Amino acid sequence: MYKLILKPIFFLFSPEQAHHLAMKLFKMVLSFPIINLFLKNIYTIENERLTKEILGLKFKNPVGLAAGFDKDGKYLDVLPHLGFGFVEIGTVTPKPQDGNPKPRLFRLPKDEALINRMGFNNAGVQSLVEKLIIWKNTRADVQNQYPSVIIGGNIGKNKITPNEEAVKDYEICFEALFNHVDYFVVNVSSPNTPNLRELQDKEPLTKLLSSLQVLNFQKEKPKPILLKIAPDLTNSQLDDILEIVKNTQLSGLVATNTTISRDNLQTDPLSIEAIGAGGLSGKPVKNRSTEVIRYLREKGEKNMVIIGVGGIATATDALEKMAAGADLIQIYTGFIYEGPGLVKKINRALLEKN
Ligand code: FNR
Repeated sequence: MYKLILKPIFFLFSPEQAHHLAMKLFKMVLSFPIINLFLKNIYTIENERLTKEILGLKFKNPVGLAAGFDKDGKYLDVLPHLGFGFVEIGTVTPKPQDGNPKPRLFRLPKDEALINRMGFNNAGVQSLVEKLIIWKNTRADVQNQYPSVIIGGNIGKNKITPNEEAVKDYEICFEALFNHVDYFVVNVSSPNTPNLRELQDKEPLTKLLSSLQVLNFQKEKPKPILLKIAPDLTNSQLDDILEIVKNTQLSGLVATNTTISRDNLQTDPLSIEAIGAGGLSGKPVKNRSTEVIRYLREKGEKNMVIIGVGGIATATDALEKMAAGADLIQIYTGFIYEGPGLVKKINRALLEKN
């Protein structure tokens, strides 16, 4: 239904309009209990064999929604009905910010890809906390289902905060969200906040992650913290990252974010040039992301958790990421092109495999 009817309609709108339209439509439709039940039956598979205990959490299935889709926790009442085992909200920053001027999200249909330069548009961490509290209180039915959907909090820094003061921004988001999310992801790999990716360098990254772990280990029950990395890092940079993960006792890595590369695209170069700067996601990033995962799994500590993300558009892509070493996987661009049925397809393939 999605690919035949809904997608052609959504694709008549600008990508950003289509995103909000689609989610509002789902939200409206789900307010009718019968349709709610109907959609849940269509999109979700509940099977004990799909559950995964990792990071000290019980995931009802290993398929998650990647960060950036629900930056402000606006669609938390919709997303669990679409079959996800976990949803990563954010990237959120301490203060609200508008992000880059529109248009800032572009479709590359020939490549089944997107280019975005959203720039962490979000309503700020306090607004997200309020949304999470309301969701948990009003959606008692969802929460009481065991295992419930796991919520990850992806944290970043405001554009106006200089890199030298970035630690404070991450600490603010960490403290504010601590009681409201199940795990954290530190995002230093978005290409759309000027100089953010410099925080992936050894010294600033060690400082940032150590500071967060100091706060974390002061808590009665520390939460898993993962780091999200770019697919554009060299092997020697990946080696540095692995050393830092070990030294700061991080729980794992999310690999990968979008790429700044424009290699091997079917879309004509003039159109690509006209779009301009931004992170490329979807099919073109698939192989590089899998390569990074394989490298990290081979070289990293055995207990390091890897969330694999980048270009998953079919069940085979998802199985490939897991074969390369991902413990859990996430989707974003594939969800836009393939629709919510993709989550179920992946879960069904996992059941058939095991
Ligand atoms: C993203 N992504 C992203 N990642 C992140 O950590 N914080 C964010 O705010 C965003 N925002 C965002 C917006 C848009 C429009 C897209 C397409 C992507 C990156 C995303 O989570 C994922 O890592 C990559 O898109 C690669 O996965 P897919 O899209 O190829 O499945």
